[in-house]
Amino acid sequence: MAESSEGGPRQFSLRPPRSSGTENIPAADAGSTSIDSAESELAEDDVIDLSLERSDSKVVEVLARLDSELVGLLPVKSRIADIASLLLVDKMRRRFGLGSSRPNLHMSFTGSPGTGKTTVALRMAELLHHLGYLRKGHLVAVTRDDLVGQYIGHTAPKTREVLKRAMGGVLFIDEAYYLYRPENERDYGQETIEILLQVMENERDDLVVIVAGYRDRMETFFQSNPGMNSRIAHHIDFPDYSDAELERIAELILNEQGYYLDDDARIAFAEYLTLRRERPHFANARSVRNALERSRLRQASRLLNSEKTVLTKSDLMRIDELDIRASRVFGRVDEAGA
Ligand SMILES: Nc1ncnc2c1ncn2[C@@H]1O[C@H](COP(=O)(O)OP(=O)(O)OP(=O)(O)O)[C@@H](O)[C@H]1O
Ligand SMILES: [Mg+2]
Repeated sequence: MAESSEGGPRQFSLRPPRSSGTENIPAADAGSTSIDSAESELAEDDVIDLSLERSDSKVVEVLARLDSELVGLLPVKSRIADIASLLLVDKMRRRFGLGSSRPNLHMSFTGSPGTGKTTVALRMAELLHHLGYLRKGHLVAVTRDDLVGQYIGHTAPKTREVLKRAMGGVLFIDEAYYLYRPENERDYGQETIEILLQVMENERDDLVVIVAGYRDRMETFFQSNPGMNSRIAHHIDFPDYSDAELERIAELILNEQGYYLDDDARIAFAEYLTLRRERPHFANARSVRNALERSRLRQASRLLNSEKTVLTKSDLMRIDELDIRASRVFGRVDEAGA
């Protein structure tokens, strides 16, 4: 289900979801050239074929996928397109020997849970790889527990091990503000922050750090850690999704999985969203994904408990109204989970 309301060449995408936690996620392909191994310098009166540069970098392709596979997020998409343009121009300038230090690419992604931060970080890693700014373009997603140790001497090796794995790609630190605990004077998180600051400065040609989390807490974190703030070049804010966007995300997810909502189920799902938003722990697209997961369970039980002796392909694909309305969000209490 394509969505390109922006018009023009700004386009985007999303691959099937991946779990979060500490993991190495490879980019689409690895091993492209690094920016430093570019061709020999061009002469003063040489010209660069812009369309060739564009297609070589795959930037249009990656942005197009981002646009078609990710619903909404227009401000985010437009910031990414701007960064991509900057890098493409930077790359061309280098061919003429212009500009020496490479642009700072460390970023901060702020927004509520389930607004697509991890998904976009994966896309960003891929984009930077295609543009030649990251050797490998994989993403290592971590939280405080993956970086900070429990006793003296534990933290530095732990942090360094994660950094080693992330080299050549993106280190994504979710809820980065938990690294900083001012109430605890001897907190080892400070050690991690110091190592990170060093590496963000010294290894910026080989590692991009993206810190992520709730907007207000990130602001406090940056206020208390000016060193971190000054190393982040791009602050990108992820807005909450509207109900209409969440409905489109639901269709996209179901479509990927070979399911669909029939007309009544679609109406029920819209009502579900309105109610779910008011309940605790609402997490935007993540709540949608979880709700659909549960409706698939109900559909399966419904089919197996039905009187039917044969099932059509459509029976197996269709989520009906009851599969949605049986949620306890509608006031029923006979079921675990919302
Ligand atoms: N704009 C979107 N279009 C389609 N699917 C989306 C979109 N945003 C998020 N999703 C889906 O919603 C789920 C949650 O997204 P993601 O994990 O990227 O959010 P997050 O901001 O990192 O959340 P958290 O803060 O909870 O880690 C993923 O399964 C992703 O595929
Ligand atoms: Mg996430």
